[in-house]
Amino acid sequence: MQFDTWTKALAELPIDCVAVGVQDDGELTPEAKALDLRCREKLSRLTKRGDFGGKPGETWLVTDLEGVRAERVLLVGLGAKGQSSKDQITRKAWRRAVTAAISAATRTRVTSLALALPRPAAKVLSDERLGRAVAEHAGHTLYRVNDLKSAKKPRPHALARVVVATTAKADAAVKKGFKQGTALAGGAALMRNLANLPGNVCTPTYLGKTAEGLARTHKSLKVKVLGLPEIKREKMGCFLAVTQGSEEPPRFIVIEHKPARAKGAPVVLVGKGITFDTGGISLKDPPTMDEMKFDMSGAACVIGTMNAVAELNLPIHVVGLVAACENMPDGRAIKPGDIVTSAHGLTVEILNTDAEGRLVLCDALNYARRFKPDVVIDMATLTGAIVVALGVHHTGVFSNTDSLARELVDCGLAADDRAWHMPVGDEYGEQLKSNFADMANVAGRDGGSCTAAAFLAKFTQGLTWAHLDIAGTAYQGGAGKGSTGRPTAMLLEYLLRRAGTR
Ligand code: BES
Ligand code: MN
Ligand code: ZN
Repeated sequence: MQFDTWTKALAELPIDCVAVGVQDDGELTPEAKALDLRCREKLSRLTKRGDFGGKPGETWLVTDLEGVRAERVLLVGLGAKGQSSKDQITRKAWRRAVTAAISAATRTRVTSLALALPRPAAKVLSDERLGRAVAEHAGHTLYRVNDLKSAKKPRPHALARVVVATTAKADAAVKKGFKQGTALAGGAALMRNLANLPGNVCTPTYLGKTAEGLARTHKSLKVKVLGLPEIKREKMGCFLAVTQGSEEPPRFIVIEHKPARAKGAPVVLVGKGITFDTGGISLKDPPTMDEMKFDMSGAACVIGTMNAVAELNLPIHVVGLVAACENMPDGRAIKPGDIVTSAHGLTVEILNTDAEGRLVLCDALNYARRFKPDVVIDMATLTGAIVVALGVHHTGVFSNTDSLARELVDCGLAADDRAWHMPVGDEYGEQLKSNFADMANVAGRDGGSCTAAAFLAKFTQGLTWAHLDIAGTAYQGGAGKGSTGRPTAMLLEYLLRRAGTR
């Protein structure tokens, strides 16, 4: 997709289709009015007749308006005036309009679309963020699930170019935003494609190969993939315990982006990469077990984010770590009560083999220490309890450093990829007491996400660390089942801030 800006008169824009906004009282926005004047008020006659209601997300295509260079004008409903504060559209209403316009265009043979919609105030959405969001929303709207259906794929949409009508002053910032948004959309799509693949295709080996593929396309990336012997050499006893019941070989993936101009200690991103979670001997219930192919969403997000970082060649040192394996029941699988030794040296009594995410993560978090990181952020579909607590709207943020948690929450707000600060404290850690080992891997039902985070906290002492529980946000169940691409936007926002390109 190509993105561009237009800073001159709308009626002169050479384009297939131009999208303008209409309120639900039929009032035309200034951009729509400008076109209306050129075509002898055909647009206002249309809205007065009441054919087009201007409801949020509603669209109406008008063709061949005299005096307008574009062949088509797309009216986009903005909803009530109340959608906007002080006459300026809210970010949410704007996003809805942008998405509706792009999606309507893909149902036609339009190859180029101009967005001439009202914009939120600059302090709500800066020019750069506006450019970023257009490219991000375009990527999201145009994403088609990578299904393995054998029927012929429907004809792809024709849309190849999106133009944003803006001012000369905002032009450079909007264009910069396009670049960021394109990289973000690419990273999120990569995450979604990986997570949507079934467990028999997207194996740990597949994830490793994908990471190696990234290193071939991006010069700044160095990728190392550890197999079973190397993982044994690292003494990752907890990770090895999870993989021991599976026929699929595990992979520990290291992706490093280190441009020469990068100064300072790195950010290390760590992803849970359980390519299928049956629960192991503590077997899960069948009804939605297929969704456990998404249990590598954290890993997929790390890979997608590293791709975006490399694409933008951000001037910061970032390392991505992925611990990938299956969690299977088997004659050789771990049993409740087994005790294993982590790479850190702490021993763990595995009371529930379904609490496997924390086991692979604790060894990955320990591996992060060798990079002397400034910040470590792990992301994992770690607990069902976070879905009970926050539903599917917020990612849970846990951290041993409150300021880091607050910053991530703020990044989530700015990137429209929201998160909520959750507690980790000694109280929760104490619930993990074991009679036989340094700790147990579970602590009962109460506060399940907090005790899971507290387990990880025992392995991150001395590090500035945050944990994102994305079990509710990384994928959707039900009719629209599939990966959402979250929290790629929040993470990229965080990394862009660190790179100084706010
Ligand atoms: N991958 C699951 C968490 C999960 C559950 C993600 C539902 C998405 C939807 C994780 O490995 C798990 O099974 N966690 C257990 C922990 C429990 C045994 C303490 C859970 O949440 O039930
Ligand atoms: Mn599990
Ligand atoms: Zn799991």
